[in-house]
Amino acid sequence: PQYETILTEQNGAVTVITLNRPQSLNALSSVVLEELISAFAAYQADDSQLCAVLTGSGEKAFAAGADIKEMADKPAADFYNQDFFSRWTSHLVKATRKPWIAAVNGFALGGGCELAMMADFIIASENAKFGQPEIKLGVAPGMGGSQRLTRAIGKSKAMEMCLTGRMMDAAEAERSGLVARTVPLADLMAEAMKTAETIAAMPPMAAMVNKEMVNAAYEMTLDQGLLHERRLFQILTATEDKAEGMAAFIEKRDGKWKGR
Ligand code: HXC
Repeated sequence: PQYETILTEQNGAVTVITLNRPQSLNALSSVVLEELISAFAAYQADDSQLCAVLTGSGEKAFAAGADIKEMADKPAADFYNQDFFSRWTSHLVKATRKPWIAAVNGFALGGGCELAMMADFIIASENAKFGQPEIKLGVAPGMGGSQRLTRAIGKSKAMEMCLTGRMMDAAEAERSGLVARTVPLADLMAEAMKTAETIAAMPPMAAMVNKEMVNAAYEMTLDQGLLHERRLFQILTATEDKAEGMAAFIEKRDGKWKGR
């Protein structure tokens, strides 16, 4: 499909989605939102695609936030009536059951930081900068920043970031557990692709189940989460890929996956 604000590309079993409004540091307009929802739905629906990478075009920004120019004159009633930002979580997080990685290549501010945190994990370039500067605009995070950042890095740091609007560099973000790994900018896409290909080579149903299990840790008590984990584990033991995976190990060969 032809998009106006993003680029999509299939590279083997990996879908690459690139935010492509470099002139506004990939600000997240409502068109970007709709196009991302379509691109993630297409990724989820295509059986040949087993991992996705989301990144920003240019060397400066992943996304510098929701589009301030679009929000500036929007009446409050519209934000409420359209419940605009709910669609990010329902489509990008909940409906995307396959794994995806955010490759953060520069500024990830406000909605940009929140979008990156919707990914299963973040790989950041050394020049990446994360922040929730909404307070400086008289607002607050609106796409999950107050919740996902707090769960990712703890109350003290999250509160400091939200109240001061300061940016966190990649080294601090890695130290704090916000990002899985930091790499030089020149290596970012190669590293993200290598990681995505590793995931895409796994038994696909097991990949989805592993994702579902880890995400459950955010929603459930320890007891509920452990039960959920055991039940999903037990379901996987009934798959053809489990029989193949264990046979392949014993026969010292690579497994061939069916995704069932
Ligand atoms: C619209 C944006 C933008 C944004 C940058 N631009 N961020 N346009 N929305 N969020 C535009 C600038 O207006 C400018 O275009 C061009 O991109 C380049 O940006 P500069 O500011 O000239 O670059 P620089 O001086 O290098 O500064 C980079 C920056 C700064 C530090 C990232 O752009 C910045 O502070 N941006 C805003 C960050 C922010 O507040 N994000 C949170 C948004 S609110 P022109 O054409 O003017 O030169 C949010 C809320 C979510 O996400 C939910 C709650 C409502």
